[in-house]
Amino acid sequence: MCDPEKEDVVRAAVREFPDFPTPGVLFRDITPVLKDPAVFRTVIDLFEVHVRANYTKVDLIAGLDSRGFLFGPALAQRINVGFIMIRKKGKLPGLTESVSYSLEYGKAELEIQRDAVDPGQKVILIDDLLATGGTMSAACELLTRRGAEILDCLVLIELLSLRGADKLKPHRTHSLLAYD
Ligand code: PRP
Ligand code: ADE
Repeated sequence: MCDPEKEDVVRAAVREFPDFPTPGVLFRDITPVLKDPAVFRTVIDLFEVHVRANYTKVDLIAGLDSRGFLFGPALAQRINVGFIMIRKKGKLPGLTESVSYSLEYGKAELEIQRDAVDPGQKVILIDDLLATGGTMSAACELLTRRGAEILDCLVLIELLSLRGADKLKPHRTHSLLAYD
């Protein structure tokens, strides 16, 4: 992020909860970001500035279940593109494709509807947080299988010590806040 004042506003609204949901995990809670409309607007402003500065053509924003759904539709509206959902397995009707992945605290499966994206469409992924990168990497795998072109992976928070951005390479990542 290249706007330190806005970064401070957003950072001040992220809370920490040690040992949640399991011992040893320091949970970064974004609830206050959503509760304050000015902070939430700042977050969407910052994502919008990044997207407009870096991409002339975006076809879709893809949000990751579940907290990517909080930011994705607002950003998609701002830049006037559609929003698609990448969901935890078993939530989407119709023909789907799925992939399993590991989490900082468990295992899960992600799923996409087969008609969510057309081959060649330019997609930006979004989630609240990048930890190990397992979730984002699984979402990239699903979109790549469907023939999408992945432009970028956006997150509000990146946990640098877990090296998620390295796992995602060669895909690009962009975070608004980074924590050691
Ligand atoms: C959290 C977070 C990211 C993911 C990051 O979601 O919202 O999606 O973990 O972790 P990773 O980089 O190690 O994969 P979670 O799976 O807890 O689901 P939720 O959004 O439904 O709470
Ligand atoms: N998802 C994965 N790791 C997390 C963390 N440390 N805080 C909040 N959400 C997370």
